[in-house]
Amino acid sequence: MNHTLFTVGPVEVRKEVLESMTKPMITHRSKEYEQLQANVVEKLHKTLDTDMNIMLSPASASGLLEACVRNGVKSKMLGISNGSFGDRWQGIGTENGKDVKKLNGEWGKAIKPADLEGQISDDIEAVTLVANESSTGVLNPVREIVEAVRQKHDPLMFVDGVTAIYGSDLRIKELDLDALVFGTQKALALPPGLAVICCSDRLLEKAKTVPGRGYYFDLLQMKKMADKNYSLTTPPVSLMYALDFQLERILKEGMAARYRRHQEMAEEVHKWAMAHHGLFAEPGYMSHTITVLNRGDIDFSKLNKGLKERGCEISNGYGNIKETTFRIGHMGDLTVAEIRELLKRMDEVLEAMK
Ligand SMILES: Cc1ncc(COP(=O)(O)O)c(C=O)c1O
Repeated sequence: MNHTLFTVGPVEVRKEVLESMTKPMITHRSKEYEQLQANVVEKLHKTLDTDMNIMLSPASASGLLEACVRNGVKSKMLGISNGSFGDRWQGIGTENGKDVKKLNGEWGKAIKPADLEGQISDDIEAVTLVANESSTGVLNPVREIVEAVRQKHDPLMFVDGVTAIYGSDLRIKELDLDALVFGTQKALALPPGLAVICCSDRLLEKAKTVPGRGYYFDLLQMKKMADKNYSLTTPPVSLMYALDFQLERILKEGMAARYRRHQEMAEEVHKWAMAHHGLFAEPGYMSHTITVLNRGDIDFSKLNKGLKERGCEISNGYGNIKETTFRIGHMGDLTVAEIRELLKRMDEVLEAMK
């Protein structure tokens, strides 16, 4: 194993995927580019099994999380959070001048449908939810939460799928979402630099009534250009080559096999964690892409230093639990065999640290 990233993003990118970026440059208002974007969008629809509008932005995922708020909320939203990234989306709402009602769950626990009781009212225009909370390793039960949100009211439903999409099967088609956002640098196993939004016609209709959408993340402008297979502003063409190439590889693997592989990798890491200081996430809601492990008496800096000397790398804890946890990313193109090898090396390093 060469130096391999078992990080939470950016993640390991295979050599052949990186090489796919070295094709000659083309201009972004050319027939060749139109074809490239058309191919990419078609493969995104196919792999994600959705007929929602798909648009790409030369941004990290946060840009499009901001787009949701700017395009879909005139005044009031509900931000659901059980970790750092849930908090961040609430903050994006506040920074954009929206009235953000906060529903904060305990870190490490999943949000349950019962938590939504009495939280939604007619003035809540949109609800934000992080599917896979990367700071805690909790995979929230998105479908049940969406059902609870929509029980008596009908706000727009926005989901941050950043570390879920391409690693966990959210069954998007059955969810009736208004926005689902993710980036290239997580379970898609590409370099960072492109964000994707799957958005509903309903959100686009709402956007027409929302002032102050700005320019760069105006979904209506983006949609106008997307309909012509163009990007609103200059896209990272080389990354589009890589996305096209990677989606072809993903189609070859098959989505069912990809989700299964992620589950198997997660199970390996969970077993290791249980034999040490345990997992931060509550049982039954563990992420398929990121495991957050309790540190106990493990000196994380020494552990990761030892791993780096042995050709691999994992991630520190994040947010409020930075000092008491550490994280292993098991997503993208990593294999179960590579995960087993990582865990073996972790045992070796811990043994050497005694
Ligand atoms: C769940 C989640 N949401 C949002 C983000 C922010 O994404 P980006 O850094 O691509 O803007 C991250 C990044 O790690 C994340 O894990």
